[in-house]
Amino acid sequence: MPISRRQLMIVGAGLAGAGAIGALGRQWWRETPPAGFDHDLVAQPTPLELVHGYQTPAWAYGASAPGTELRVRQGDWLRVRFHNRLPVSSTVHWHGIRLPLEMDGVPYVSQMPVLPGEYFDYRFRVPDAGSYWYHPHQSSAEQLGRGLVAPLIVEERDPTGFVHERTVSLKNWHVDEQGAFLPFSIPREAARNGTLGRLSSVNGVPLGVVEVPAGEVTRVRLLNLDNTATYRINLKGDAEARIYAIDGNPVEPVPLLEDYWLGPGMRLCLALRPGAEGGEIALRDGPMRLGTFKVIAATGGGQLWPPRLPRNPLPEPDLANAEIVPFNFEWAAKPSLLAAQASAPSLWQVNGQAWDIDDKTCAERPIARLRLGRTYIFELRNLTQYQHPIHLHGMSFKVIASNKRKITPYFTDTFLLGRNERAQVALVADNPGTWMFHCHVIDHMETGLMAAIEVA
Ligand code: C2O
Ligand code: CU
Ligand code: CU
Repeated sequence: MPISRRQLMIVGAGLAGAGAIGALGRQWWRETPPAGFDHDLVAQPTPLELVHGYQTPAWAYGASAPGTELRVRQGDWLRVRFHNRLPVSSTVHWHGIRLPLEMDGVPYVSQMPVLPGEYFDYRFRVPDAGSYWYHPHQSSAEQLGRGLVAPLIVEERDPTGFVHERTVSLKNWHVDEQGAFLPFSIPREAARNGTLGRLSSVNGVPLGVVEVPAGEVTRVRLLNLDNTATYRINLKGDAEARIYAIDGNPVEPVPLLEDYWLGPGMRLCLALRPGAEGGEIALRDGPMRLGTFKVIAATGGGQLWPPRLPRNPLPEPDLANAEIVPFNFEWAAKPSLLAAQASAPSLWQVNGQAWDIDDKTCAERPIARLRLGRTYIFELRNLTQYQHPIHLHGMSFKVIASNKRKITPYFTDTFLLGRNERAQVALVADNPGTWMFHCHVIDHMETGLMAAIEVA
């Protein structure tokens, strides 16, 4: 008896339901999520003492900012009920996660904003292991600036060999000496590198301390959850560090020998083996200390360097048959400094179009239309004197070339495009939808450096 099309589909669904990573193929996002939820995620005003003796009127997911770390196993469902107890509407975007458009958290594109007092259920399967994060995608300068940022860790399905692990979230706060918020975006700064905060923090604590056991290997997940800052990450002290993954995706382990430039939204997974108990290793941004790894007593586990982490099930771009799409990132043709009712000036543009955060219809005019299943090479051209961490929603891409540096190809969701750099990144357009493509310096994004890309 010939197998009918319907039977084939049922067989396919059964495989995917079994949760095998190999079955997380092309169609994984089309599955219907199981009803219910596993996490209540509450966003609300949460006063914090960032400056000793003063309260900062922060907003947080849970009790701290950065907020609650969500953890899920690769291939499993993440089911979160998001409660908005903020005085403003919001959404949750899952940075770096490949998911269906309805779960992407972009207001007016994926969903309507979640109003104060309302909730919204996010349910999706996570195809890729690694370090990710979540944040609102509305009034982002203020909402992220006030503290609505948090880690999302997707654990590998099988043991990786790491025995110890720490999450290290980096964020600068726009606060003054009394802990009061300063403007999150100033046009004069937005037109340059972006508006920097003044008080850096490690896991929400200025000059925060993270404990690591002596002589043993700890997996350190460094996340840049800041609006603006590119940290030039280096370590000073008695320790050996190796890079195991970049922005969630494993790489062949290499020693961390010089500054690693971690732009806003980017992540770096290190293996760190410190020397003797009682030592201190400074976590630095260039010459500046951000925080400290304090070496505590050995535990007796984790002496070995784990092998390379397993690859994520990403589609390999078909470079021989790729179409090249150029993207020019530049100064806006007619920069407008704050028109009367606008919430942000227009300073930057992508391929001649400046995104307007007050115009809910921008996503209806995508700057590129990609055909589902085809490979594209994006040629990213930075025509400015500032660097831009270029981020894509919905799909990961492979960095393949640059005119400024030697590239060992790797997969990512955010590429730090240097001044006047031209780079090529490739991807298979396998996720249907309208996807945001933007600079992750939040005030660049809010002053024009955002666009929509359609995959159909
Ligand atoms: Cu973290 Cu639209 O991004
Ligand atoms: Cu994103
Ligand atoms: Cu930028």
